[in-house]
Amino acid sequence: MPVAKQPVPELKAGALTILAIETSCDESAVAIIRQTGTTPAEILCSLVSSQIQLHRSYGGVVPEVASRNHSLILRSLVEQALDQADLQTCDIDAFVATKGPGLSSSLLVGHSMAKALAAASGRNFLSVNHMEGHLLSPFLSDQSTSWKSPGITVPPHLALIVSGGHTMLVHAKQAGNYHLIGRTVDDAAGEAFDKVARMLGLPYPGGPEIEKQAQTGNPEAFQFPRSMPGNLNFSFSGLKTAVRYALPKISNLTTRIPDICASFQKAVTDVLVSKSLRAAEEYGCNMITLSGGVSCNEALRSTLRDKCMSEGLRFLTCPPGLSTDNAAMIAFAALLKFRSGAAGSMSEDIDPNFSLCQQDSTL
Ligand code: KG4
Ligand code: ZN
Repeated sequence: MPVAKQPVPELKAGALTILAIETSCDESAVAIIRQTGTTPAEILCSLVSSQIQLHRSYGGVVPEVASRNHSLILRSLVEQALDQADLQTCDIDAFVATKGPGLSSSLLVGHSMAKALAAASGRNFLSVNHMEGHLLSPFLSDQSTSWKSPGITVPPHLALIVSGGHTMLVHAKQAGNYHLIGRTVDDAAGEAFDKVARMLGLPYPGGPEIEKQAQTGNPEAFQFPRSMPGNLNFSFSGLKTAVRYALPKISNLTTRIPDICASFQKAVTDVLVSKSLRAAEEYGCNMITLSGGVSCNEALRSTLRDKCMSEGLRFLTCPPGLSTDNAAMIAFAALLKFRSGAAGSMSEDIDPNFSLCQQDSTL
């Protein structure tokens, strides 16, 4: 049911200033970006308040704890963002939020806050897909390829999105035109990192901890399986189980943690890289992008970058601040939508299972 009857305000054709709120999981994030004409978008501020310490003792995210803390922090985070950008709510043209996928109680906090700000200041409201934010984030970081006159668009490419909840290969023909060509059939890549870290007694989130341990380990020490189903899908549960079964057989386990982490990380990287290259070839893409929290992993980044270079493909990713959950990517996704003519709507609702693209029937 619509929550406001006022007409959606027209957006200015010139400068567009967007405030975005991201609360799909355990990070409360607010960002403001501004963009004029066909010039690159500028991130005026991007704040992330992480709840990792609160969830650490549970070994994962507790939804009720997450939503309560979003509501406790969000107002001051918005005020801080406006202060940092030296703006007031009346300077913002549109307030946007993450629609999904994510935890419903957490999404609701950010969505309601952005809607309330839009209603109170008579501005536009739009909600966007969290995975689209991740997918587009490499183009926010390197806009030389994305801002081709006339208009704002992104080039056709193959996107590998690897986060705590998703592992996806997407054939992106342009912004907003996405075709899912591969996904995980069980655990997401980040989830596998988190679960293996937990088995090894490493803190949550496991990805950065495994990467740290792997730096002094031998990636060939253990031959963990690489699940390569015939299609472009992924499966990480067999790898996770192989690590579980290997552990009781390892003597001096504590001293072997770096070797286990390096071997596990190599197995995940090998699968992600080889499937991405195969997908790029099958779909005729000459550019691969890497995004999502797991893309912070330097072994994955450098392996994929090197392989792309040797295959003559362009490779694009983004710095860690734009790889893990953040609101700048949400603002950017909204910006591309507004610039391609999308109108906001106050009757938007959250969708915890919001899908990025029509799933291919063969997946
Ligand atoms: O995209 P993100 O911030 O949140 C989701 O949308 O899920 O991704 C979080 C995931 C976690 O599973 C975390 O362990 C993983 O990204 N991650 C990493 C690294 N940094 C974060 N995985 C591997 N290596 C890293 N350096
Ligand atoms: Zn995410």
